[in-house]
Amino acid sequence: MKLYRAKDYNDMSRKAANIISAQIIMKPSCVLGLATGSSPIGTYKQLIEWYNKGDLDFSQVKTANLDEYKGLTRDNDQSYYYFMRENLFRHVNIDEANTNIPNGMEPDANKEAARYEEIIKSLGGVDLQLLGLGHNGHIGFNEPSDIFPKDTHIVDLQESTIEANKRFFASIDEVPRQAYTMGIGTIMRAKKILLIVSGAEKADILYDVICGPVTSKVPASILQLHPDVTIVADEAALSKLE
Ligand code: F6R
Repeated sequence: MKLYRAKDYNDMSRKAANIISAQIIMKPSCVLGLATGSSPIGTYKQLIEWYNKGDLDFSQVKTANLDEYKGLTRDNDQSYYYFMRENLFRHVNIDEANTNIPNGMEPDANKEAARYEEIIKSLGGVDLQLLGLGHNGHIGFNEPSDIFPKDTHIVDLQESTIEANKRFFASIDEVPRQAYTMGIGTIMRAKKILLIVSGAEKADILYDVICGPVTSKVPASILQLHPDVTIVADEAALSKLE
C-alpha cells in the first residue's frame, strides 16, 4: 500500500485527481472505476478544471461505477446515475455510451448483477478503481458481514449506512433500503485501486483498514492484499496513525 498524506479535503482531491489524470494520459482508453458520495466530489471538480484548461481528454475513457440504489430512476436526483452526470460526465467530453452504472430499476437482481459483471469483463477489467470509505469500513456497498461477496450483487443497506446517507434525502424514510454493488472480488480484480479518505470521523476506521486484521467485518481491510493500492487521506483521517 502506498499512503499519501494530504493537508485537507482540497489537497486530497488534487492529489487523487493527479493520479487519475496520469492514468488517463498514460492510457487514453482506460477503464476507470468510479465512486459517488462526498469523498470524490472535489476530485471530480479538479478533473473538470483540468479538462476545461485543455489538459485532459475523456473522449476514449470508459467508466464503471461501483454501485447504484435499487428502485431509483435515473432522473431521481439521489440516484448515482444523476450524481455522476451532475458531478462529472456532463462537464467533460466523455461519451455517455462509454459510461456504466448498475441499473437500479432492474427488478431481477440476479439478471442485473450478471449483466454488470459481464460489462466489466467485456471492457477488459478496471484499470483504476476509485473508492471512498464508509464509516463502517464498507467499500462500494459491501457492508461488514461474515463473508467477502465475490461479484456484483444486491445488498440490504445497514442502518448505519442508511443513517449516514439520509443527509442527501428529504427524510430517512426516502433512503432506499437496497442497492446494487460491485462485489469485493470485482473491486479486487481492478489493476490499481485509489482509496480517498477525509475527515476525523473516518480516523478510527481508516486505522482498522490499514493496521487491523483482514476481516470481512471491515470490508476495506481486504485492500491490504491487493498488489497496487494507493491511499490518499487527509491529516484528520490519518490522526490515529501518527
Ligand atoms: C459510493 C460508495 C460508498 C462511499 C462511502 C463513503 O459510490 O461506493 O462506498 O464511497 O459510503 O461515502 P462518503 O464519501 O460520502 O463519505
